[in-house]
Amino acid sequence: MDPDRKRFSRLTAAALRPLVITGAGVSAESGVPTFRGVDGLWRSHRAETLATPGAFAADPGLVWEWYDWRRSRVATARPNPAHRWITGYLAERPSGLLVTQNVDGLHRLSGLPDPVEIHGSLWTVRCTVCGAEAEDRRIPLPIPPRCAGCGGLLRPGVVWFGEPLPAAALERAVTAAAVADLVLVVGTSAVVYPVAGLPALARDAPLVEINPEPTPLSPAAMFAVRARAGEFLAPLC
Ligand code: OAD
Repeated sequence: MDPDRKRFSRLTAAALRPLVITGAGVSAESGVPTFRGVDGLWRSHRAETLATPGAFAADPGLVWEWYDWRRSRVATARPNPAHRWITGYLAERPSGLLVTQNVDGLHRLSGLPDPVEIHGSLWTVRCTVCGAEAEDRRIPLPIPPRCAGCGGLLRPGVVWFGEPLPAAALERAVTAAAVADLVLVVGTSAVVYPVAGLPALARDAPLVEINPEPTPLSPAAMFAVRARAGEFLAPLC
């Protein structure tokens, strides 16, 4: 085994309560575009301008078209070796936790039973009138989709910029960070809070990062793997 994989295996094997944090990069090799990469634009819109309550209030149809496009991209995507390695790793460590910023559902699809999907899911919808939440896997959606119960406008079951994170999910993440004996951060630019702040809560736990590019977390990392996550982890699956 090459030295990087050897070191990575040694560090990860030693942990009993690892906190694994993932972002869009973990799904890049499944064909899901990242947010801030060169393929992150949709028509000429940036994610940050569409994923807001203001954008939805101004033009729900436009925002729904973007989500409908993302759902159709993700519907055919399959977990890659990075998802699979994380699932296998945490299956052996019941006190570990995965916190993902991804809304694509690929960690679940790879067999991970209870990931913290801290930014919600592309596959849930919530009524803006009666608040009912439901799973909805229709592709394409009627735009804009309406609540089966009350006819109100539905919104995606995701967290937008400017909105608080779901309290229960945040609590699980913060608690896991406080007791973690390793923090593994995979495929996130680590610029969106509060997730980007979780590693700092894990006081003495070593930080390991897998990302082809440096991030604001890199200076604090004990070990930074500069590689694509799926490629790096495939031989370790
Ligand atoms: P970004 O698009 O900001 O960052 C993706 C990161 O993945 C970058 O640092 C890339 O270098 C890295 N990357 C690309 N390919 C990779 C690969 N094959 N293996 C490993 N890493 C790779 O996505 P996030 O950090 O997830 O929030 O963005 C965080 C949040 O901002 C998202 O959840 C979303 C977004 O706007 C909301 O919508 C609330």
